[in-house]
Amino acid sequence: MTQDEIKKSVGWAALQYVQTSTIVGVGTGSTANHFIDALGSVKHQIKGAVSSSKVSSMKLKKLGIPLVDLNAVDMLDLYVDGADEINPYMHMIKGGGAALTHEKIIAAVARKFVCIVDASKLVDMLGNFPLPVEVVPTARSLVARELVRLGSIPKYRQGIITENGNIILDAHNFKIVNPIELEAQINNIPGVVTVGLFARRGADIALIGSEHGIKIIQKKCVINT
Ligand code: 5RP
Repeated sequence: MTQDEIKKSVGWAALQYVQTSTIVGVGTGSTANHFIDALGSVKHQIKGAVSSSKVSSMKLKKLGIPLVDLNAVDMLDLYVDGADEINPYMHMIKGGGAALTHEKIIAAVARKFVCIVDASKLVDMLGNFPLPVEVVPTARSLVARELVRLGSIPKYRQGIITENGNIILDAHNFKIVNPIELEAQINNIPGVVTVGLFARRGADIALIGSEHGIKIIQKKCVINT
């Protein structure tokens, strides 16, 4: 199986969490794209979707899935998205696709966050993948200095402006021993819009795909399917 076929398998498997007549939160990325395709197959059974990026919105529109503004809903039953890394405590690094701010907002409004990844994303300790931080452009140097002070090597993501008009610093070489604490520390730096650590609000369920099948993980508990 190719990596994309594995991503497809978890994208379609996430359909089991979609309830009829609900509005579904939808993430961004190659794995989330497979979930959007799957959602298209049940589009007449749902009310619509809240999207985390322009790219996902375009795909949803093409499939005829109604787009709903997040401000029009109090709560979502479900948010489905990929991740760049996830640990057994369901903390994640996200933002490889630069959509981290909208992703974090939607995750905060969702009752259930289902993370869909291939097995290469499951790690014991987060930090091998450079941690994305969305930053107001004028605060770039200040935030970079603070990220160095916290133990990383920040790199400016060239040529990327987020949908909110900001830049991304990717913090390399972090050994993230305490994700919840680090998330709060980075959030406290003036000029930081969003850090791609999803620890305070992690995933509730992770579907981890490999050529051997899909493992469903809920915190430390592993169920083989
Ligand atoms: C986008 C994200 C994605 O979920 C993450 O980058 C994983 O992407 P992919 O499914 O393409 O591997 O956080 O901002």
